[in-house]
Amino acid sequence: MKTDFLVIGSGIAGLTYALKVAEDCPDKKVTILTKAQSDETNTKYAQGGIAGVMDSDNDSFEKHIEDTLIAGDGLCNKEVVEIVVREGVDRIKEIIEWGARFDKEPDGDFKLGKEGGHSEFRILHHKDVTGKEMERALLTAIAKRSNIELISHCFVLDIITQHHLGYLITKSTLDIECYGVYVLNLSTNKIEKIVADITLLATGGNGQVYRTTTNPSIATGDGVAMVYRAKGRIENMEFIQFHPTALYEPGVRGQNFLITEAVRGDGGILRNHAGEAFMEKYDERKDLAPRDIVARAIDNEMKINGTEHVYLDCRHFSKEKFTEHFPNIYKKCLSIGIDITKDMIPVSPAAHYSCGGIKTDEHGRTSIKNLYAAGECASTGLHGANRLASNSLLEAMVFAHRAYKDAVKEINHLSLSHSGGENAVPDWKADGTNAPKEMILITQSLKEMKLLMSDYVGIVRNNERLKRANRRLDLLHEETEALYEKTAVSPQLCELRNMITVAYLIVKCAEFRQESRGLHYNTDYPFKSEKIQNIVL
Ligand code: FAD
Ligand code: SIN
Repeated sequence: MKTDFLVIGSGIAGLTYALKVAEDCPDKKVTILTKAQSDETNTKYAQGGIAGVMDSDNDSFEKHIEDTLIAGDGLCNKEVVEIVVREGVDRIKEIIEWGARFDKEPDGDFKLGKEGGHSEFRILHHKDVTGKEMERALLTAIAKRSNIELISHCFVLDIITQHHLGYLITKSTLDIECYGVYVLNLSTNKIEKIVADITLLATGGNGQVYRTTTNPSIATGDGVAMVYRAKGRIENMEFIQFHPTALYEPGVRGQNFLITEAVRGDGGILRNHAGEAFMEKYDERKDLAPRDIVARAIDNEMKINGTEHVYLDCRHFSKEKFTEHFPNIYKKCLSIGIDITKDMIPVSPAAHYSCGGIKTDEHGRTSIKNLYAAGECASTGLHGANRLASNSLLEAMVFAHRAYKDAVKEINHLSLSHSGGENAVPDWKADGTNAPKEMILITQSLKEMKLLMSDYVGIVRNNERLKRANRRLDLLHEETEALYEKTAVSPQLCELRNMITVAYLIVKCAEFRQESRGLHYNTDYPFKSEKIQNIVL
């Protein structure tokens, strides 16, 4: 198959970009691939909302920029922060034009929420299911464009580069080029090649590397692993954001339900088992301090008291007020016997967001030619060492737009002549592989990886734990590569392989960062270094 614009991922970044290139280039073919159902994305689960300066009487770009820089703990790229905050407002207006509905006051103004690290009320939301609403609006708009084909249940295995044409590629090779991807079509169980002029990776996050995460099962870091294998640049992977308040449900593993930070924005209070509102001991901003601080405080309270969770107290809310903003959370809590008007909600931190990722420039270009990245899989420089709440949906739209602008300029200069044309790309080689004999080899390694990442590379780290994690990952890597060599590819095996790569990148970056900054806290280096550096692998 040959397409003009290839998009991997059907979350907010992929869909926004696809809509824009398709509209601007009606004669070009746009193909979106996604490994699950089209709406099964991190985007769909976003609750709190999207940050944007919509109320210029009380808020300003400068304040949003300042809040983002403070949360990022000295590591944000200020130019990128300015770009996202200033251009974000137009992107929000666009998605509203495409049909997304955000809650409004009776006078027609947007109802704006507040979350940790924000100095003003600036979060647009659709009740507590903002992402679902945005995903719905985008998919509806996509369905109306005849030059877009969205193919679900297509698992992208690898990006195609000169390596597949028989050339030796190393990290120091200049001008690595992307010609498209190999995909496992899950409907036919066949591996196909898709050749494209321009490819965008919008593959989302990697929360599934940890045992407890707010991310759905698709969040396995595939894009990052693919780019690393292709010798592209990956940055700042140590900055894994743990959301302070995932619902604590004993026995639930895989995806933990989120209790949005907007609940604390509306007045929810964190309490320990003794009923103490402990956040005032840790930060003067109390429950609305940036996420890294709140997650570490909860982790500390759990360790001091030997408990597996703390509580979020909403008993002082009126039922009407709570259910108006948070109907889904109310329903979920009730379904497990928690009436938020009488009971406190048990919560604990869970892996939530990857601040680092595929290194991109201000146009979403990766270090590989004709390959762009946007959304959670990209490292644009916006988040620095800790993402400000609700800046992620905003960043995804701003960089999808910037990548679109650059890609439509580029496409007319491109032909596949560099690869000798479409036919020069060989078919996938599956010689010598057999159907997997035992799934246990995959599932057990997956369990081991999640456990070691949660135990050794969680909210608080030290050198010994990182060393142990590294050793264990080495073994898992060796065993998984051996299995991969002789086994026919399956999504489970490929995801395991990708997650082990991502786990290795997190540990490596964590080892290189010999300081504590933002989300990376190492007790052997408890202070910030004077030197501001990004870790690039
Ligand atoms: P995603 O939406 O995750 O989409 C990734 C896509 O890539 C999927 O379609 C997936 O199938 C596809 N894919 C991945 N690998 C492959 C492969 N190998 N082959 C084919 N397809 C592949 N951010 C905010 O700003 N505000 C919020 O309120 C907020 N709340 C959140 C709540 C939760 C519970 C979670 C999990 C996240 C939240 N976030 C929030 C973060 C935000 O939702 C995500 O960062 C953002 O939606 C990521 O969008 P994306 O387009 O980059 O990726
Ligand atoms: C939340 O609703 O608390 C999540 C917001 C975010 O991750 O930005």
